[in-house]
Amino acid sequence: MDATSADLPTLFRPITLRELTARNRAWVSPMCQYAVDERDGVPNDWHVVHYGSLAVGGFGVVLTEATAVTAEGRISPEDTGLWNDEQVRAWRRITDFAHSRGALMGVQLAHAGRKASTVRWWPGYTPGVVPESEGGWPVVGPTEQPTDADSGQTVHALSDPEIREIIEAFVAATHRAREAGFDTVEIHAAHGYLLHQFYSPLSNTRTDEWGGDFEGRTRLTREVARAVREAWPQHLPVIVRLSAVDWRDDGWQLEDSVLLAHELKDLGIDLIDVSSGGVAQASIAVGPGYQVPFAERIRREAGIATAAVGMITGAEQAEEILDEGRADVVLLAREALRDPNWPLRAAHHLGVPASLAPWQPARWRGAWH
Ligand SMILES: Cc1cc2nc3c(=O)[nH]c(=O)nc-3n(C[C@H](O)[C@H](O)[C@H](O)COP(=O)(O)O)c2cc1C
Repeated sequence: MDATSADLPTLFRPITLRELTARNRAWVSPMCQYAVDERDGVPNDWHVVHYGSLAVGGFGVVLTEATAVTAEGRISPEDTGLWNDEQVRAWRRITDFAHSRGALMGVQLAHAGRKASTVRWWPGYTPGVVPESEGGWPVVGPTEQPTDADSGQTVHALSDPEIREIIEAFVAATHRAREAGFDTVEIHAAHGYLLHQFYSPLSNTRTDEWGGDFEGRTRLTREVARAVREAWPQHLPVIVRLSAVDWRDDGWQLEDSVLLAHELKDLGIDLIDVSSGGVAQASIAVGPGYQVPFAERIRREAGIATAAVGMITGAEQAEEILDEGRADVVLLAREALRDPNWPLRAAHHLGVPASLAPWQPARWRGAWH
């Protein structure tokens, strides 16, 4: 075999952030499974098989679903969590297996804020709030304004001490993430969840130090980033997922994201995962690679590594994004559900010899040649 890793397509070249090297640049985007039927935040056999299959499929880094830093921070009662030791042990089994297959794992740490306590997004579900009588809980946010004015949901506006408790919960979960064997943490500051609720002008009308101007509204995201960075080993990277835009003239804009990315970089954040939307109704121009221009602009103007996500499905499409320097890694969500072996297929498609593709020895006989 003549080929060496220097000849590989960019998608299959290793990438190093701080002292962490991932085997390639095809990573799994965070995806809620809503599969904790016990409702205790503890990942179970489903999670072992689901994340395990993605590690076997050859992805470089497998990012977990939104994993709540407190029970109240879950999107649905069936979310995973990282607020106790039982959860640490269950995650450890998963990260150990992923590592044994050459994959790295990152946990997406999250607090859903006013979007918590909702019905899990499963077949046949009716969107809505889970009432307290059925295992739901009172939700919190920057103000008393609910996401959906028609929901009838009451939201408790967080006080200053309560906000500081949530920052501490992120720190505690960060320590647990390390015990659980994760290689990186991603702070979920997108999609209309708590941190995004604070930085978007559409959801934060506070007048105290946690609201008002850009600095006030972004304070929570910056404080969480600072605290998580301090709590996470210095040789390992921290990622932040942002909603780059709210897709509304009166909302958060791309220029705001560039500015925030700059500040996050100064705080020691290593990679911005660039998504969009989620805090309020908007019309979104969805299409192949529709969020790549945001990742490209943040990368260029803030001078920080970015991950591109959103309708990236093809090997050549992914390779082009990376090769043209529009992002440093690509994240796949739905396509990874359709084909957990996507990296193996993509490697073949791009002409990577099977011996240099992330095939597992036990599956070697099935390798494309
Ligand atoms: C089943 C499912 C669950 C998701 N859960 C999360 C999540 O927990 N956290 C998050 O940041 N994004 C979540 N997303 C969004 C994806 O990470 C991704 O940004 C989005 O699906 C666009 O990528 P795609 O076109 O490759 O699917 C979810 C998407 C899907 C399909």
